[in-house]
Amino acid sequence: MKAITKTSYGGPEILQLEEVEKPSVGDNQVLVKVYANSANPADWHTLRGDPFFARFATGLLKPKDKILGADFSGVVEETGKNVKHFQPGDRVFGEYLKGGAFAEYLSINEEHCGKMPANSGFEEMASVPIAGLTAIQGVVTHGKLKAGESVLINGASGGVGHFAIQIAKAYGGVVTGVCSSRNAGFVRELGADHVLAYDKTNIHEHHGKYDLVIDTHGNLFHADFKRMGHRGVLIGFTTMGHMIRLLLRSLFSQFPLTQFTAQAKRQDLQTLASLIENGSLRVNVEKTYSYADIPQAITYIEKMHTRGKVAMVWDH
Ligand SMILES: NC(=O)c1ccc[n+]([C@@H]2O[C@H](COP(=O)([O-])OP(=O)(O)OC[C@H]3O[C@@H](n4cnc5c(N)ncnc54)[C@H](OP(=O)(O)O)[C@@H]3O)[C@@H](O)[C@H]2O)c1
Repeated sequence: MKAITKTSYGGPEILQLEEVEKPSVGDNQVLVKVYANSANPADWHTLRGDPFFARFATGLLKPKDKILGADFSGVVEETGKNVKHFQPGDRVFGEYLKGGAFAEYLSINEEHCGKMPANSGFEEMASVPIAGLTAIQGVVTHGKLKAGESVLINGASGGVGHFAIQIAKAYGGVVTGVCSSRNAGFVRELGADHVLAYDKTNIHEHHGKYDLVIDTHGNLFHADFKRMGHRGVLIGFTTMGHMIRLLLRSLFSQFPLTQFTAQAKRQDLQTLASLIENGSLRVNVEKTYSYADIPQAITYIEKMHTRGKVAMVWDH
């Protein structure tokens, strides 16, 4: 099968499209024929081995895992003997954070997959896993947003942000989105009640007060969370230095600030699928690339100005 591979750390230019062995299916796994992927900041962090400390998990001198990629959608071809929730022919989507999704086939634990809604497409659903799981876990699991509460979402127009706005609205929140003026109309169309353009309003001097502040971009300081929020959730990071300073400051403060890494949970994937099926959540796929152009897709998303998501498709 074809796959997008890497044998060292570096930029998108080191990626190769090559023939590799098709994976076999483990007892708790499903073998998926991949129809589409999406690109996430996690892909270029993994590709570059940046931040450096992450290499203790991914391989100190060179990457342990050859195939890049996390988000996918496709069709189940085979199931392991313990698999309970899927059967051959099911259309599925999911997250393979360890890497291995940018390939024609992958074998993955069934708990990291969900069933695609009947009315959905492969590009659309491949764009959901990491960003959608992060958004739902940021707003609901960790943010504990209740109906009627106000929430500020910083970085509202990207993969995570554009889902977080819609999920916060679906759970009854009053949403203020922060994005560039270029994306203000987009964020309003997604349902934000208020929009702040960061190129017109200095967020570090904004005096609005919100029940919950969610930072997907990762440039807020501890003082910003405290000034604007009653509680906070930190999702993204701009620099490791900034994040470490913020978390250290948080250790000596009563302000409830949560930082988390999203988990690939089947139940949350199914909730996202239901929200898509009932029309509460739409996926904005800004650009679609062919599998052969996955390096270009990664180059595009590395600029961190994606409007929604970038998808990549395989021809079968
Ligand atoms: N904790 C976790 O488990 C987890 C999971 C997924 C992602 N993440 C992290 O979350 C972050 C966002 O991921 P993503 O997939 O949403 O990235 P993305 O799709 O590239 O979105 C980034 C967004 O940031 C916005 N932005 C740029 N400069 C900004 C500024 N000064 N103020 C506010 N917003 C600004 C951009 O909007 P404009 O184009 O309008 O400027 C863009 O829409 C990344 O750091 C990623 O590593 C963490």
